[in-house]
Amino acid sequence: MCGIVGYVGSKQALDVIVNGLRRLEYRGYDSAGVAIISDGALVVRKKAGKLANLETLIGSDPMPDSTTGIGHTRWATHGGPTDRNAHPHVSEDGRVAVIHNGIIENFAGLRAELTAAGVVLASETDTEVVAHLLAHSLPEADGDLAEAMRRTCRRLEGAFTLVCIDRTQPDLVVAARRNSPLVVGLGEGENFVASDVAAFVDHTRSALELGQDQVVAIRPDSVVVTDFAGEPVETRPFHVDWDTSAAEKGGYDLYMLKEIAEQPRAVADSLRGRISKDHRIQLDASEAEDAALRAVTKVVVIACGTAAHAGMVAKYAIEHWTRLPVEVELASEFRYRDPIVGPDTLVIAISQSGETMDTLMALRHAKAQGAKTLAICNTVGSTIPRESDAVLYTYAGPEISVASTKAFLTQIIAAYLVGLYLAQVRGSMFEDEIRGILEELDSMPSKVDLVLDTTEPVRALARELASSTSVLFLGRHVGFPVALEGALKLKELAYMHAEGFAAGELKHGPIALIEEGVPVIVIVPSPRGRSVLHDKIVSNIQEVRARGARVIAIAEEGDEVIAEFADHVIRIPAVPTLMQPLVATVPLQVFACEMATARGLDVDQPRNLAKSVTVE
Ligand code: F6R
Repeated sequence: MCGIVGYVGSKQALDVIVNGLRRLEYRGYDSAGVAIISDGALVVRKKAGKLANLETLIGSDPMPDSTTGIGHTRWATHGGPTDRNAHPHVSEDGRVAVIHNGIIENFAGLRAELTAAGVVLASETDTEVVAHLLAHSLPEADGDLAEAMRRTCRRLEGAFTLVCIDRTQPDLVVAARRNSPLVVGLGEGENFVASDVAAFVDHTRSALELGQDQVVAIRPDSVVVTDFAGEPVETRPFHVDWDTSAAEKGGYDLYMLKEIAEQPRAVADSLRGRISKDHRIQLDASEAEDAALRAVTKVVVIACGTAAHAGMVAKYAIEHWTRLPVEVELASEFRYRDPIVGPDTLVIAISQSGETMDTLMALRHAKAQGAKTLAICNTVGSTIPRESDAVLYTYAGPEISVASTKAFLTQIIAAYLVGLYLAQVRGSMFEDEIRGILEELDSMPSKVDLVLDTTEPVRALARELASSTSVLFLGRHVGFPVALEGALKLKELAYMHAEGFAAGELKHGPIALIEEGVPVIVIVPSPRGRSVLHDKIVSNIQEVRARGARVIAIAEEGDEVIAEFADHVIRIPAVPTLMQPLVATVPLQVFACEMATARGLDVDQPRNLAKSVTVE
């Protein structure tokens, strides 16, 4: 949450920064602001609301030429989304401007200290204290901005990425990070810092990962990285393997539509190259020996939101294939309940961004208990995979729309591969069984394609139901997390009451919600799989229909029985039971997207949300 970008070079800093912010707006859009250095002065513009508001402001009040600057797009934590609280924040003497992503937990004490020293704070933010602390540290640091940043960081608690400029040093941008993302872009005669490579990929695909508690000083021709004590540190360069077009809308009206359409490719890419010549599954990086994985007695999946739903789907498969117990826990709950994990536990952290603070903190807690850790992640070089013993990357490509779509499908794929890997090293499945499942997985991109070719009925239904006040989703077995995911998509995009239930649980209370005409979307298990599941869901459909529900069944081709019981049937290809989430989720994504559009809402940037949630 919060997107930050800093630039130093020879181009117009304002253009580079505003373009970068456009790419980072998915991280927060409560306000936006920029600061540049011109003729020894700081020039700042900031505005509540989306980046477009800032652009209008700059249009009416132009900024001078400059080749050094910083910019910020905010997801509000401390202080409402107002002009006053928008970043950058400037020190009282007008010398330093700073932007921040994260939360400074000891800000109240620092604020009191500054107020006692006579500083008048201009905003309600935690960030502003940093601007004043930096300005106070500069004389003690003999004007060395990086040293002033290090001194300031040593006083801060919490999570932060900070970027600052000093009006007296026009060719310098200094940044620091603890627990929040920061990457450096390495150009020719220019350098960048940003929360995400998307901000500078137009200019360079050469980047540098910053580690925990590090400070970087960039000038047009140099990049110097130290730790908070000022000691030089080794950094890891990496190449960004996607280009600008991957992050553009590519002819679609919405990023979400583009990302839904990209799912067959994302699934295929996430499977590609995972199988060695001798048909063995391979992880991307692993310090966990196979012997250690053989000793595992329990698997715990930690994740949030959509990623947690992917984990819930994977539980069914991993337990079935490995006979290991799998627990799936919301990362935000995990470390606060004294979970039982130890050296024999494999903890799998699933995260698209690799920066979700709840997941990161849960991962660290698991590591501290001695657990083996494995990350499933879509963002190379992000913190969660970096801190895990083993990694399996999903190759979904950049996911810009705030509502997760292609990440979900690829997370299921990756978690299934982890399950099969465990089955392989533990010998809980025959090799030909594993190969059979890999073949099924290989056929999934074309099955998802088939779903995408036939979305019109579900779109028409979404438009028809756009004025509903509530939609319920029912599923059994792997269809249950799919129901939860369908409801989450609808809540976050259409701002509508939506809930997912295990279909069998309905009669224990939630059935009271059913009234005349309420839409109930049912994910129907394959009659060819465990047919008892199919029979049971038919009973559950009858229960809600008898009470007036309008039933929409998501059912496989060839399931003729269901037509008799449902008001509408949305067809999906017939696939094995454990593969069904990969096809059944897609119509639910389309449904939510279309319904939000019909309700006139901003699909790619729903209210109150941010793509990367870097606060707990
Ligand atoms: C929902 C959504 C969120 C994320 C969650 C975890 O559409 O996008 O629920 O899934 O915030 O994010 P990552 O996967 O980045 O850890």
